[in-house]
Amino acid sequence: MRTIHTVNELRANLRTHRENGKRIALVPTMGNLHAGHISLVERARDLGDVVVTSIFVNPMQFGANEDLDAYPRTLAEDQEKLEKAGNDLIFAPSVNEVYPHGLGHQTQVIVPDVTELHCGASRPGHFNGVSTVVTMLFNMVQPDIAVFGEKDYQQLAVIRKMVRDLFMPVQIIGVPTARDEDGLALSSRNGYLTPAERRIAPRLRQALEDTAQALQNGSRDFAALSQAATDSLTQQGFRPDYFNIVNSDTLRPAQQDETRITVLAAAFLGKTRLIDNISLKL
Ligand code: PAF
Repeated sequence: MRTIHTVNELRANLRTHRENGKRIALVPTMGNLHAGHISLVERARDLGDVVVTSIFVNPMQFGANEDLDAYPRTLAEDQEKLEKAGNDLIFAPSVNEVYPHGLGHQTQVIVPDVTELHCGASRPGHFNGVSTVVTMLFNMVQPDIAVFGEKDYQQLAVIRKMVRDLFMPVQIIGVPTARDEDGLALSSRNGYLTPAERRIAPRLRQALEDTAQALQNGSRDFAALSQAATDSLTQQGFRPDYFNIVNSDTLRPAQQDETRITVLAAAFLGKTRLIDNISLKL
């Protein structure tokens, strides 16, 4: 398994595979890999012939007060994990390689509508950073398939819309969220939690499951359900950001006759922002 840092070298490496008719599968990541990322690589292995995992902590998707500097960079450990998972190529460019003219001069890709609410409202500009860097990675790697986690439900919706709207020739695959035994969604940011916060963290999942159960039981007062979950999370020590019941495709607030519903939640525990979601058919 090779680690490549420049676009020129990446293209030279992939050219032969493409000429030989190999299907290239891309797993875009920001590194600090955990079992959730490895499940993406495994899915990519099943679907493609050559698996490229990108590792790039993308400054464009971090807000001014967010954790860009503190974000864990663990390339050596990531290389070991990817080698074991059967990954073929790591693409780990520098910030200068990706944004040679600086962030302020970078052409951006802006996806409307689906970015407006939820994380898009709480983290202005975040999804512009994601859609821009993912477009750039698609152009650099030119994959046939790209694999993303469903934990970042809104991100996946943004990427699906971008690919559809811009006729990008890449198949987008979503992979179910990997969880710890107590239900906490795996995330690089879980490493920021204190032991006390870590004990409370799975209750975010519990709140989503309780809401899904109430919906399955016929409750349709979405505002009351959201408020009850928000109050309960607050009592348990979270600082909820949002807890929204939405249409699974548009991510707009769910209507009474909705059949495909997703509950999206984000909440802080101390300084750590956790997100999770649950989808159900009614
Ligand atoms: O989900 C992530 O890790 C990032 O948002 C992504 C898709 C790699 C873009 O930087």
